[in-house]
Amino acid sequence: MFDSILYFMNMVFTGKRALVIGGTGGIGGALSLSLANCGAELVIIGGSSKTRLDATINSIKKSGGTASGHLLKLDNVENAVTSILSLCPQTDILICAFGPFCRKPLADITVQDWQHFVGLNLILPGALTSAYLGKMAKQHWGRILLFGGTNTANIRGFTTTTPYSAAKTALGTVAKSVVKNADGVTCNVVCPGLTNTEYMNEEAIQYNKENAPGGNVLSVKEIADFAIEILKNPALNGGIFPIDYGIEINKV
Ligand SMILES: NC(=O)c1ccc[n+]([C@@H]2O[C@H](COP(=O)([O-])OP(=O)(O)OC[C@H]3O[C@@H](n4cnc5c(N)ncnc54)[C@H](OP(=O)(O)O)[C@@H]3O)[C@@H](O)[C@H]2O)c1
Repeated sequence: MFDSILYFMNMVFTGKRALVIGGTGGIGGALSLSLANCGAELVIIGGSSKTRLDATINSIKKSGGTASGHLLKLDNVENAVTSILSLCPQTDILICAFGPFCRKPLADITVQDWQHFVGLNLILPGALTSAYLGKMAKQHWGRILLFGGTNTANIRGFTTTTPYSAAKTALGTVAKSVVKNADGVTCNVVCPGLTNTEYMNEEAIQYNKENAPGGNVLSVKEIADFAIEILKNPALNGGIFPIDYGIEINKV
């Protein structure tokens, strides 16, 4: 009865803690606000911008939500996992939104590039999933949402983003493995299409406009709304969900 009242009030995550890595801006920032509006207590991790961290926490508090946050420079994966776990030893909802990206032809990619982009786009979300899964499974409730890349819902080739895209494609394996390892915990991957964020320069905005099918560039709010529907629904598990107007980019 209480659960259905919360559902109708859209406060389905009341009493749940949500940890959002990359939760101070872009898609993660929008999703942090949406989760708080659904009743979750937010712990958000940002990179270097205290202004963005404070602004996100303030807008959550202004709309009646609860949030705390930290800035962490995530570059060394082992240190990143240790720091995140010491700041937030337990969470009911884990969102891995931060995902660094670069364009380089495959032949120019160095060992360090492979380590950096696979480390932060696959090993970090994978290790955090492992670290939080045990407690989620014990309480028979948990939600994990990982962010893939554009066109990474299936295996395909890329001309300039191979380490990033390979890591993002592999997140599907992480999600499907959670299904086999924990009852009551869902893990899904959202693969956004071209999405405008506050981090983009004019050139990137123009690229999105020219390459989005029908000029349909996504907003961070559209991605956050889609993510919330996935998180709400316990029947959606081990899924890889593109939200991209059916884009097939051949240039990346
Ligand atoms: N935007 C797109 O078109 C698009 C398309 C497909 C997939 N995706 C995926 O969707 C997810 C979200 O992407 P996004 O474009 O919103 O932006 P993003 O740059 O991946 O995430 C922004 C968030 O990460 C934080 N951050 C940046 N550098 C950091 C660092 N070195 N250490 C710790 N935190 C750091 C930012 O904090 P500060 O503000 O403090 O730096 C902010 O909170 C990513 O996984 C991305 O790969 C995005």
